[in-house]
Amino acid sequence: MGGESQTQHHWQGVLSSALDAVGHTPLIRLDRIAKEEGLKCNLLGKCEFFSAGGSVKDRIAKRMVEHAEKDGILIPGQSIVIEPTSIGLALACALKGYKCIITLPAKMSLEKEVMLRALGAEIVRTPTEAAWDSPESHIGIARKLRKSIPGAVILDQYSNPHNPLAHYYGTYEEIMYSLKTSDLPRKDISLLVAGAGTGGTITGIARAIRDNEKSLVNGDAASHKRTTVLAVDPEGSILGGGEPGNYQVEGIGYDFFPEVLDPNPPVVDEWIKTNDEESFAMTKRLIRRESLFVGGSSGSALSGAIRYLLSPAGDEIAKDPSANVIVILPDGVRNYMSKPWFLETAKSAAAVEEEDLRDVIRNVLGRDLGDVSGVVVEKVEGEGKVQQDGEV
Ligand SMILES: Cc1ncc(COP(=O)(O)O)c(C=O)c1O
Repeated sequence: MGGESQTQHHWQGVLSSALDAVGHTPLIRLDRIAKEEGLKCNLLGKCEFFSAGGSVKDRIAKRMVEHAEKDGILIPGQSIVIEPTSIGLALACALKGYKCIITLPAKMSLEKEVMLRALGAEIVRTPTEAAWDSPESHIGIARKLRKSIPGAVILDQYSNPHNPLAHYYGTYEEIMYSLKTSDLPRKDISLLVAGAGTGGTITGIARAIRDNEKSLVNGDAASHKRTTVLAVDPEGSILGGGEPGNYQVEGIGYDFFPEVLDPNPPVVDEWIKTNDEESFAMTKRLIRRESLFVGGSSGSALSGAIRYLLSPAGDEIAKDPSANVIVILPDGVRNYMSKPWFLETAKSAAAVEEEDLRDVIRNVLGRDLGDVSGVVVEKVEGEGKVQQDGEV
């Protein structure tokens, strides 16, 4: 599959549109969390919220659209793109002038809907509980609309080979370039951890890892230990085993096996199940400890990674200071700001920790921090107008 990559690793010159700013995301050390967990390995997050549309899905949207244009499947001025759930696709359609209809399960956040509308897409909400093959699901409704709307095209991330290929050529190569140009002692991946939705991300990166392992020649082969690939799946999804059920985390898990997912060895070695509670707690920890504005499924991926590393199976990697653990952090918290799990400020570790400082501020001001009801605002001579919100 080699030879196709045109991966750019640095921004050079002026980009022709936001599509050129899709991908090329940084690999960032998660040292504070690694230390708290007693991990000696290099814990590294691939931060996809830096991409133009804020998500790992931008990559597949760009590649699927560009290849559909090349293959004559999408025709400017005629085609209407219909797809279940994708800001990246709406972004590509906005730039290229295609009409776009997105079918969006009810559980998907208001922020996603608002952003999709801002990009000019039409949104059809569908019941979250509808089975994937029911006519009312996000997939069923997309198919129904395609049948009746002239020029309608479904690029179908569930079966489109360009979904995993976007990661085979893009995400994988970027990770290897980041490692190669780093000062880390090893330049290979010991453990790859990613959540699975369609499975395109984990399948594409893992296939590239395996193909590369096959082609390693003597010297490299001796120093490279086979990469372990760990897939993360929420409780309530069947991809990693178990019964279908409800869960809040968005973007990962399904009640069917998408065609693009290759769930077994040698591609995926192991699956780990995560729940909403640990995912959201870890998301807040990533924001609080590492200042990374990630979304809920990033917490799932990191929580799964840490549980694996702290288990007997992950012990050798966890204790090896030269081992590189890559965790894919798929999107950003800006997609989920209105969700109760993010808004609720309940007794998280950080909230309790900061109680002392809050007390100091309360004592200095003689009032509660958020309580402005009794505050008298004085005008300060010569210092401009003091506004109600404290800005001068
Ligand atoms: C928000 C979000 N989008 C997309 C993905 C990747 O999904 P896929 O398996 O479809 O590549 C994930 C996976 O963790 C995700 O959390």
